[in-house]
Order: sequence, then structure tokens, then C-alpha cells
Amino acid sequence: MQVGLKIWRYDSATGERALREYEIDAPEEATLLDCLDIVKDRHDGSLAYRKSCRMMICGSCGMRMDGAAVLACKTRMYDIAQEGRVPVVSAMGNLPIVKDLVVDMDPFWDKFKAMKPYLQPGYEQPEDGREYRITQERMNVIHKEALCINCGCCVSECNAMESDPEFLGPQALAKGMRFVGDPRDAATIERLEQYSQEHGIWDCTRCYFCNERCPKGVDPRDAIAKLGAEAISQGIDRDMGAKHAKWFVRSAETTGWLREEELIPKTQGIVSTVKQMKFAMNLMSHGKARPVPVPHTAKDVGEARNLHKLVREQDKRGALGHVQGERALARLAHGHVGESLEEIYARPNAAPRPFLPGEGSAQGVGSLTQADVTPGEEPTRGRGTEA
Ligand code: SF4
Ligand code: SF4
Ligand code: FES
Repeated sequence: MQVGLKIWRYDSATGERALREYEIDAPEEATLLDCLDIVKDRHDGSLAYRKSCRMMICGSCGMRMDGAAVLACKTRMYDIAQEGRVPVVSAMGNLPIVKDLVVDMDPFWDKFKAMKPYLQPGYEQPEDGREYRITQERMNVIHKEALCINCGCCVSECNAMESDPEFLGPQALAKGMRFVGDPRDAATIERLEQYSQEHGIWDCTRCYFCNERCPKGVDPRDAIAKLGAEAISQGIDRDMGAKHAKWFVRSAETTGWLREEELIPKTQGIVSTVKQMKFAMNLMSHGKARPVPVPHTAKDVGEARNLHKLVREQDKRGALGHVQGERALARLAHGHVGESLEEIYARPNAAPRPFLPGEGSAQGVGSLTQADVTPGEEPTRGRGTEA
């Protein structure tokens, strides 16, 4: 097939920048990475990009295609070529470009190292001298975070990092959650204190671009939400972001609404409220806030209260509660209520049915399989392997 590519070329030594177009002949199964190999081998040996495994494992080949981060070795070109599209390929965002599609990963690794990405032992050794066994339910909390391959695609698209380069970022925070959620790690409180400081958990803008672009289903934003839930459950809630989250929970439980007008007085106190009156008046003049908060309770507030009661009774606090919520949302998103999986995937135009634990996976596991079927189930096994 004929594939057209426009590639942003850049040389940090000279500052030269140019958009070059290439037309190549590639096999139908070619990925973006295969196409770059063809460009380099047969058309322009000076093109610079990173690669290693060619199978979505090493995380080397992160780059942008048409403005969104992708793994080049995961991106098939057949449909794009058939449509006659010529995608624009460029280096990842939020990291300095060294040459063409190669970025300087040092800032990325500095944040990664700052998370202390290793188990800090101190857990009680089992008395019989055997291995430390962890329940499946506990491992489900960090199942997705453990899939990270450090490719940087999430960092490339992070809004918060764009405005605050010191923000720890989605990859580092997801890595932090991988250890906070591990029952063998003995530094949970220190970690949560560190991650809750400025540039940490609460500086995320919740844009969800990291979830959207992660090629491995890690869902870093969800990991950050779990860190927030863990921090609050441990009483680490000095940050304004934590205070806001707590007020919204309280507000939803008592009235069934998010009472935003009361957010500032309830969380920042009267002095701060007075200081922000000018801003509040501005909001009111644009119809964005009500002049006087009107006490109002939702008709179905009982449902919100029952939900809180249920969560309390089940004692699913912190990240455990979040995993349970993910599972419920996945069920709703996939129309899983009252229908079997087979029925859902037999619907006209349904997405391909994902593999389930025990069936193996040709394309990696999707978020439905991770969020929906793992809790309380056996660990995922490859097709045909014994338990
Ligand atoms: S959700 Fe948060 S961490 Fe993820 S990309 Fe947006 S700002 Fe960054
Ligand atoms: S969280 Fe996903 S996108 Fe981010 S570095 Fe890990 S694998 Fe890549
Ligand atoms: S080359 Fe290893 S992830 Fe693409």
C-alpha cells in the first residue's frame, strides 16, 4: 500500500525546524513504526526516532500523530492509507525535543525516581517462612498501574504539566499508586504525604487526556483519584484540593447536590471568602453563581444517602472503594445490566468482545476486562495454561 507521512523534523543543535513529506510503499500490515523504518532505510537516513521491542512492551516509540500521543508500534496504518489521509507525525509534548521525534526523557525519569519506585520493605514476614500472599482483591487495586511501560504518552498530553512543568504528572503518580496500593510496602504514609504536596495529587486538572492516550489501559487519572482517596482515608487532607473533595462528598450526602456556592466558606474560611468577593460578584453578574445560596434538597436525596450508607457498611474505603466504583461504571458504560456479555457483543455494530481472564489476549486487555471481571476472580491466565 502507498502511505503518505508528514514528519516534523527538528535539530536542537541548529534550531532548524521543517515539515517534510514522504510517500512510501509499505506492506498492508505495517504500523507507523514500520513506516518510519522504511523512511529511514530507503528515503532519508537522517530521520531520528526511538524504538526497541516493536511490540508495545519497551515504551520507547511514543510520539504524536495528528496531535495526539501514540505508540508507533501499536498504530496500524492500513485504514489511514485507505482513506488517503496523510498524518502529521511529531515528537511528544511536554518534554524537550532533542532531534526529530526523539525527546529528552530526563525530566520524565527525574519525576519517576522522585516517587521512590521500589518496594520499601517492613511488612510482617509470614511465620511459616513461606511467601507473602496477597488477596486478589488487594492486587486489583494496583492491577492497572502495574501495566505501565513508562512510554510517556500520558505526560505528552497532560494539561497540568503544560501550565506547571513541576507537576509530578500522570505517569509518576500512577507509579506512586502502584506502591501505595501494595500491601507489602511499608512507606504508605510517607508516600501519601509527599505526593499530596504542591505539584502533586491535587494539582491534576482532571482533564482525563492521560486516560485517553495511555496505550496500555493504565488509566493514570484513576490512579490519581485512588491516591486522593487513600490520602483522605489516612487523614492527609491539608491540601485545598482534598478539602474541596471532602466538602463535595458531604454536600452530596446531605442534600444530593454539589453546593458550589458554599465551597469557599466551608473549606477556606471567612477571611478567604471576603477576599474573593470581587470574583464571586463577577461570577454572579455572568449568571454563573446565585447571589444567595438557596438551601435545596434533591427529591431523591435518599438514594445518595443510601449509597453512602452502603459504602460505609461495606467498608470499601480509599482505593478499594474506587476500584468498586470503576467496576460499576464499566458495567454501566458497557450496558452490562441485565444482559450477558455475549448478548452485548452480539448487538449490531458492537465493539469486538474483549478477552476475559483465562482466555488470553491477542490485543492486550481492555479496561472492561480489568475493571469488570478481575475483582474477586482468579488472576488472568493465558489461553490454555493451567491454574
Ligand atoms: S487528568 Fe490530570 S494527570 Fe491526567 S492529563 Fe489531565 S491534568 Fe494531567
Ligand atoms: S501510564 Fe500509560 S501512557 Fe503513561 S507512561 Fe505508563 S503506559 Fe505510558
Ligand atoms: S518499540 Fe517498544 S513499545 Fe514501541
